[in-house]
Amino acid sequence: MSHVRKKMVAGNWKMNGNRALLEQFKQHLIVPDNTDVVLCPPAVYLANAVGSHYKVGAQNISEHEKGAHTGDISCSMLNDLAVHYVILGHSERRQDHNESNELVAQKVKCALNAGLTPIFCIGEPLEVRESGEVFAFVQAQIDAVVNICGNEFFEKAVIAYEPIWAIGTGKTASPEQAQEVHAFIRTHLSKTNSDAQKMQILYGGSVNADNAAELFAQADIDGGLIGGASLKVDDFNIICQAAG
Ligand code: 13P
Repeated sequence: MSHVRKKMVAGNWKMNGNRALLEQFKQHLIVPDNTDVVLCPPAVYLANAVGSHYKVGAQNISEHEKGAHTGDISCSMLNDLAVHYVILGHSERRQDHNESNELVAQKVKCALNAGLTPIFCIGEPLEVRESGEVFAFVQAQIDAVVNICGNEFFEKAVIAYEPIWAIGTGKTASPEQAQEVHAFIRTHLSKTNSDAQKMQILYGGSVNADNAAELFAQADIDGGLIGGASLKVDDFNIICQAAG
């Protein structure tokens, strides 16, 4: 049985942007009907970003509830600001900060316990793609979360498939390549929970105003997690429209 899933477009600003850019988005970002549009600016801008017509997400949280963790941000602080989403397991955090599958799973658990919606990122490096082990690789990333959070974690989470070789490279996965992995993810989770049919699975990696519509038209691609093209409001609007 097929389900109608709401589309989502999330903009991951990474360590880019400033207050002036945020003002542009507040004024000019168009949120289509039936589409969740989420802006994820750097943490220092979250307080400024909330309270507008789009949803807001953070780019990271601590796996701890509170305490002596200089520089970290807790789930309850995001709740305090009415930030509803958090990107977790992004490949840049896995690489730059040595975040393991297990640490990412702990963070997903913290977010779920706090009522935040994780945008849980998975995706393979080029050598894994070339060796033909993509499914096993993403399955291990997912199963690490299932082991800690249970197989219903995705009922309250969004998954983002972002092949590392496509991030920031201008080299997007073809719609067929992305669809194949999305279908695998949904089928894998459906084995133990039929609600996987309702889960939003986003594609990320060099999505832009020109290629978004074709990617979002695939059966198991429910929108996108956008990096570079989420820093220009006109481009981002086109991408949001492609989902709506
Ligand atoms: P780009 O859209 O810049 O390739 O980045 C994708 C990404 O990493 C979003 O989280």
